Amino acid sequence: MKVSVIGAGNVGASCAEYIALNKIASEVVILDIKPNFAEGKATDLMQTATLNGFNTRISGSTGDYSKTAGSSVVVITSGIPRKPGMTREELIGINAGIVKDVTANILKYSPEAIIIVVSNPMDTMTYLALKDSKLPKNRIIGMGGILDSARFKFYLSNALNAPASDINGVVIGGHGDTTMIPLTRLATNTGVPVSQFIDAATLQKVAADTMVGGATLTGMLGTSAWYAPGAAVAALVNSIVNDQKKLFPCCVYLDGEYGQKDICLGVPVVIGKNGWEKIVDYKLNAEEQAAFNKSADAVRSMNSVLSEMKVI
Ligand code: LAC
Repeated sequence: MKVSVIGAGNVGASCAEYIALNKIASEVVILDIKPNFAEGKATDLMQTATLNGFNTRISGSTGDYSKTAGSSVVVITSGIPRKPGMTREELIGINAGIVKDVTANILKYSPEAIIIVVSNPMDTMTYLALKDSKLPKNRIIGMGGILDSARFKFYLSNALNAPASDINGVVIGGHGDTTMIPLTRLATNTGVPVSQFIDAATLQKVAADTMVGGATLTGMLGTSAWYAPGAAVAALVNSIVNDQKKLFPCCVYLDGEYGQKDICLGVPVVIGKNGWEKIVDYKLNAEEQAAFNKSADAVRSMNSVLSEMKVI
């Protein structure tokens, strides 16, 4: 199974590393436009193979998409990352052109690929990749909710003083500091609602910390985070290539589900060999649905920039 990762920055390299460490694919190609950069990252990673005991062949390419030919899954991480103080939305102008170009190039050599979009603003970039490529909707998946949910579970595990592996929690809506919706009502510690362990104010603080989880790290690191984003992509790739049917919140095209149409937004979906295979209805209460609609409004207004800029 071959997986390609476009963009050899921190997130792209981290994706490749976790895919190899977890033995998810036999071959990973990393591609970047910066001369020799992907080759350098690939070689460095391959020099860990005997130390870490993996057999995945990782190679790099400077802009030669023929090297990605026949990929089952392609991950788009290209574009400029966030700088401290910047919102994901501010990246739209630069990253839209890049994502459009990358998507066309990928499909030239891997017409059957399932595409995972990581570039920000992710919900808008996923919509752009879908509209521009005209691929069946199940083959375009935006990676956001799975990462935001991992952060939610991290903050919950700290607040509850419980292991993160015992915590379940889901974040839906947009992948933006103000558009994501941690579903606090449905979060559990081994099947028990977390509200039985922490008070409402603490739970609200967990939700607020989750929403700015990425921005907090950008402030600390001077650029976007990469370990958790890379691990989140690897988990998605795993569910696709091994047809695991995992239920993950991902950004997908909605056609009436969750009360929204013609938009890509984070909802719980089953991920398998066909990409996203089914949207699962979590039966939101009125307050959650209102938050979801508000999130959709914000993402829709960002999507409208694409037509204003004549990108789609
Ligand atoms: C983050 C970037 C990947 O949330 O959007 O860290």
